[in-house]
Amino acid sequence: MKPTILAFETSCDETAVAVVRGAEALSNVLSSQVDAHARFGGVVPEIAARAHVESIRSLTHQALQEAGVHPDDLDGVAATSGPGLVGALLVGHSFGKATAWARQLPFVGVDHMEGHLMAPRLQFEGFEPPLVALLASGGHSQIVHVSDWGAYETLGHTIDDAAGEAFDKLARVMGLGFPGGPAIDKASGGGDPAAVRFPRSLPARPYHFSFSGLKTSVARYVEKAQGDLPPLADVAASAQEAIVDVLVDKAFNAVDATGAPTLGGGGGVLANRRLRHRLGEEADKRGVTLALPDPILCTDNAAMIGVAGAHWISRGRLTDWAEAVDPAMLL
Ligand code: KG4
Ligand code: ZN
Repeated sequence: MKPTILAFETSCDETAVAVVRGAEALSNVLSSQVDAHARFGGVVPEIAARAHVESIRSLTHQALQEAGVHPDDLDGVAATSGPGLVGALLVGHSFGKATAWARQLPFVGVDHMEGHLMAPRLQFEGFEPPLVALLASGGHSQIVHVSDWGAYETLGHTIDDAAGEAFDKLARVMGLGFPGGPAIDKASGGGDPAAVRFPRSLPARPYHFSFSGLKTSVARYVEKAQGDLPPLADVAASAQEAIVDVLVDKAFNAVDATGAPTLGGGGGVLANRRLRHRLGEEADKRGVTLALPDPILCTDNAAMIGVAGAHWISRGRLTDWAEAVDPAMLL
């Protein structure tokens, strides 16, 4: 049986609600808070939590309506339980639990990164372990070997900034907007990725990342070049390439070492056009199946929480009513 799940994701600055049946998203709606945070140059936790409170009820009605599902037809409720901002997490988690309790439905708390990990299931029918996943978001970057759902071995992770955080910081250094990932993606259009050779991080460690040095290197370059800078598109494309190179190299190091036939991807950074192109090229060369969901399913959304929730609810793995959110949850 494919359970019909109402899912909530409120770990950061998107209020997201979805209805998922098995691995199919019947609806997937969100309210972005980007404008509310942009003038502060980053996400303000208290503003995020308040905005979730304001929009979660109407988004829930919208998600059910768009899916054509009556609350009586639901089989369960899922909500992100961590990692993320504690106040923000509490809104979706409490709302989800209350909905489940009131309707006597099973409830499962989902790890946000497991949501990103399972998101390809929404679009790729055969997306099943064994596989390797590259997860890169604003708060986390990791390479995970999945031998079974729930059996996750993190082969490598960032030792300082996450890849998305690196994009956001680089955009600030280059005077581009917030969030930085989409801004750099756009600014680098038509630019030459080989115009400036910025350093690649941790070449001696096969699966780990480090991105804080890149920010310093780009800042120094911009400062030194002063008025004599190459076109912005070239600098943006070159900085982006330094991140992309490392992510591609290390993801395929893991694919080679584990012999996994499939590489999945999730997290906002996987929406990056250049990264998607380069991963595609490498996967083709090696005959590896690449499962990258559409960009809208790479950035934060509730359908990914729903597909993970449906998986666990159908296997009877539920969350105790007393369980709290965990802002520092690790996959
Ligand atoms: O997964 P996500 O939506 O939220 C978190 O869980 O953090 O990831 C957000 C991150 C931000 O740092 C944002 O700059 C980055 O993903 N991002 C991108 C792109 N779109 C979003 N980075 C590079 N290129 C993009 N197109
Ligand atoms: Zn995320």
